[in-house]
Formats: sequence, C-alpha cells, structure tokens
Amino acid sequence: MTGPADWWRHAVVYQVYLRSFADGNGDGTGDLAGLRLRLPYLADLGVDALWVNPWYPSPLRDGGYDVADYRSIDPRFGTLAQAQALVAEAHALGLRVLADIVPNHTSDQHRWFQAALAAGPGSAERERYWFVDGTGAGGDQPPNDWPSVFGGRAWTRVTEPDGRPGQWYLHLFDVSQPDLNWGNPEVIAEFEDVLRFWFDRGIDGFRIDVGHGLAKDPTLPDLGLSGGDEALLGVARGENHPYWDRPEVHAVYRGWRSIGDGYDPPRVFVGEVWLDEPERLAHYLRPDELHTSFAFELTDPDWDAEGFRTAIDAAMAAARLASAPVTWVLSNHDLPRHVSRYGRPAAVRKRFGADAYDFTGLDVALGRRRARAAALLSLALPGGVYLYQGEELGLEEVLDIPAEQRDDPLFTRSAGTLPGRDGCRVPLPWEPDGSSLGFGSNGAWLPQPRAWAGLAASVQAGDPTSMLQLYRRALALRRSEPVLGSDSFTWRPSRPSVLHFARGEVAPTVEVLVNLGADPVHLPAGEVLLASQDVRAGRLPADAAAWVRVTPSLRSPP
Ligand code: NOJ
Repeated sequence: MTGPADWWRHAVVYQVYLRSFADGNGDGTGDLAGLRLRLPYLADLGVDALWVNPWYPSPLRDGGYDVADYRSIDPRFGTLAQAQALVAEAHALGLRVLADIVPNHTSDQHRWFQAALAAGPGSAERERYWFVDGTGAGGDQPPNDWPSVFGGRAWTRVTEPDGRPGQWYLHLFDVSQPDLNWGNPEVIAEFEDVLRFWFDRGIDGFRIDVGHGLAKDPTLPDLGLSGGDEALLGVARGENHPYWDRPEVHAVYRGWRSIGDGYDPPRVFVGEVWLDEPERLAHYLRPDELHTSFAFELTDPDWDAEGFRTAIDAAMAAARLASAPVTWVLSNHDLPRHVSRYGRPAAVRKRFGADAYDFTGLDVALGRRRARAAALLSLALPGGVYLYQGEELGLEEVLDIPAEQRDDPLFTRSAGTLPGRDGCRVPLPWEPDGSSLGFGSNGAWLPQPRAWAGLAASVQAGDPTSMLQLYRRALALRRSEPVLGSDSFTWRPSRPSVLHFARGEVAPTVEVLVNLGADPVHLPAGEVLLASQDVRAGRLPADAAAWVRVTPSLRSPP
C-alpha cells in the first residue's frame, strides 16, 4: 500500500481540456462552472485526480499556452473564486487537482513582454526575454537559424518605441509566445512565487509545459538545420542542444521540488519532457526534482504488438533508472486521438508531421474496438496513467473541421499543410441532443460530429457494453485488485502478435493479454475479471484484451 503522500505513484489522472469539457455559462466555451457540475461524473468514473489545461487569462492564440497573467483565471473560464471552489469540491469527492504551468514562454500580452517592448534595447525589462540584435546589414536578418516548433522561424523583429525596425525576440512556439530568459534570477523568483500562489490555494501539483525547454545557450549558436524540420514539441536529441534539455534546467526543478515539499501534503510535479534518451530523462526524475514525467512511448506505435512491447520496455527501463513510476499516456490534446490512430490500415510511426494526420482508409469502428483493448492494456501497467478527456467515450479524431474554424497555430503556421490539433479538442458530447450535445446550452466553439450523439456520456452510462462502462469497471478493479496497484510486472511467453504479462509475484496473479493478431487466442485458466470483447470458450478474439485472475490450482498445466 502506498501512503497518501505517494498517491501519484499509481494514480489515474483525468486530463481536462477546459475549453472543451463542459460549458456552464452557455457561451460555447468550456469553463470552470461546467467542470464543477461534472465533477461527480469524474468521481464516478473512478479517477484519482484531474489535470486542468491552462486556465489563465490568455489571448488563446495557442489554446491558453500563451499566458498573460499566471495568478488569475481567464474570464471566459471563470474566476479565481470558482477555481478555489473547484478545488474544494474536488477534494471533497476525493479528487486531487493539478494545474498547468507554462514556464518556457509567456503570452506577448503578458505585462512583462509589453514592458519589454516599451522599454527598448538594453533595458532590464528586455533581459527577462531573449531580445537580440539581428545579423546582416541593418540587423535585418534573424540572430540565428532556430526554427519555431510550429513552423517558420523562431525569431520575430520588433518595431522600437521610436518607430525604427529594432531587435528580434525568440519564440520557439508561436509568434505570440516569447521565450523567457531563465538565466535571469527575476524569472526564477517570479515562477517560484507563482507556484506558491497556487499551492496556497490548495492546488495539489502542476503539469509542467515543455519541461525540457526553459534554459537556452546564451551564445545562441546556429543549429545548422537544413530545413525547419523540428518535430512538433521538439524532441530533444544529442548533447548540448542550445535550447532543449540544457543542464541548467535541473536547478530550476530542484528549487520547485523544495517548494512543493514544504507543503502538507507535499505538492507534486509531472513534466512534459520530450526526450528519447532514458539516461537523460532520468535526470528529471531524481528524488529532488520532478515526481513523474509523461511516458510518451505508448503514443508511438499504432496497433502493433512489437511496437507496444518495445514502448513498454523502454518506458519501464527509463523509469527504473530513476526509481520513478512510469506515467502512461495514450492520447492528449496534442496528438490525434488513438481511436483513429488504431483504425488506420497502415501503422504510422510518427507522432507529428503530415504522416501523423494521414487517416486514409480509416475504419473508426475497428479503431474503437482496439481502443477498448488499449485501455485495458494501459490501465493494467504498473505506475500512473493519464486519461485524455473523451477517450473514456471512445471519441475519434474529428477530421472535417472547416478551415475557417480551425484554431490551432500549427494549422496557420504550416500554411494549412498540417490540419493541427483541433480534431482532438472538439467539445465533449454529454447528451444525445441539444445544440452542442449537452456540452452547453448554446453551441460549441468547434463543431461536433452528429454521430457523437450515440457516444454521449448519458447514453453510454446506461449501456453495460459501452466504452464508458469499460473504463469504469477497469478503474474500479484497479482499486480493488491489490496486485494492480503494485509495481510487479512480468512478461509471459506468448506468440509475437500477443502481449501477455502478469501482475503480482505470488498467486493469485492478474494475467493481462492483448491480442493484436488476426486469430483468437486461448486465455489462461482463471477468472476473467474484465474483457474488452466477449470471451467465448476461453478464447480472446482479435483486437481484444482481457484481465484474468489466475490462482495456482487454476493455472494451465505447463
Ligand atoms: C505543449 C502543450 O501541450 C501544447 O499544447 C503547446 O502548444 C506547447 N507545449 C507550447 O506551449
């Protein structure tokens, strides 16, 4: 058993993309009022905590990851008092609340950036960001060749207060997201204060945006890229990268951890750290740094047994290096929904870029069947799990959002060559009817497929065969079966197209089988606790998974 201070080691955290979760005031945008009304739904689902995507005042140029004020709530989402009420109500239901901190960059509407623009070159205000003179005649070329993750270059030139063309500022993401200078002690102090502000208001922890970012090489060397081919979130590779995974970032997190540890109960951090090298990732998970970081490995393979096996081994090896639990993820607000990833005919191995959005030949029903199995896979692995809102309803990626309604800067900055991330951010269906399927009383900010009426939460709640009920039962079993809360995990021998592992060292174990092949496979003798499809005569169909409790007397003879 883990004590309350260790809750995060095996927690299931539900990601609330606030804008699209539930609209309480009928303006078409999700908000805190809507979330508060739906808290009982999350408690019934059986999750341990929620992570709420950025809720701060923001121009929403990047869905709120462009923060204008870190100590307040955007009026479209509600008020600070509502946020505090949300935390209190969630706690009363046994749910913890994680917020989202965005330290790599602010919004260009943040008072610091506005002050920097007004103060001009050489000022202390500009030292909070990366304002640099350009190169070439008249400084009209950018300081170096760094590309923006969203396409185009990472530098934009400003007009100085006197009207002349002036310095350039760095934005690794959208032009509206200037990068902060983490070499400046003022920046460090400011964020430590922001953490305290929210911890004092009961927030249980933070998800850290672009956790492998923040620090920059102050000499700003060229990358030497032939084209702007950075992956969407900038997976860091190699030693001494000028802006990803710099050693200086670890001192920042040590400071944050000591602040979090000073609270009772201690506050926790989960990092969004895109790193391919386990040894480097382990540095972020040292006992005096972050508690966890997302294991994005499981988002890598489409429906592919070898891919999943490799992903699971890699994530567990990385976590072992740091004695940290793995934090599994199948989907989030940046990735095409996994129902659609699993329903495409050919496996795609790129998370980002044009391939990731190629859904030619998509079979949504097949993807949904496989997603049921994937839920039983991820929820049976040791460690924590983050669920992305709507995956418990089996929602697919929405592919037909009209160009004029697309909102993601990835769409505009790629000149429409990438559809962007709106397709996984479409507001949830709660009811089978109404102007926005129960999302709110007055439409939704992105159009919902009409077919989602049949996937509405209220419809699925009454259907024992639904995806929602599968998640509810899986989450209940995760709590009631002690071995599912343990760290034990053993691969069992199986044919290549089947994943088979055991949880628990001593009997009874829970054996987990996922059948990614074309033919049914025999389940071990035992009690089927849960299966994603009907199990007949002890055989698990294709594209299905099962959890089986095996006691010694029931184990099949060798
Ligand atoms: C990662 C967030 O998840 C994504 O939505 C955002 O666009 C970038 N960081 C930039 O903040």
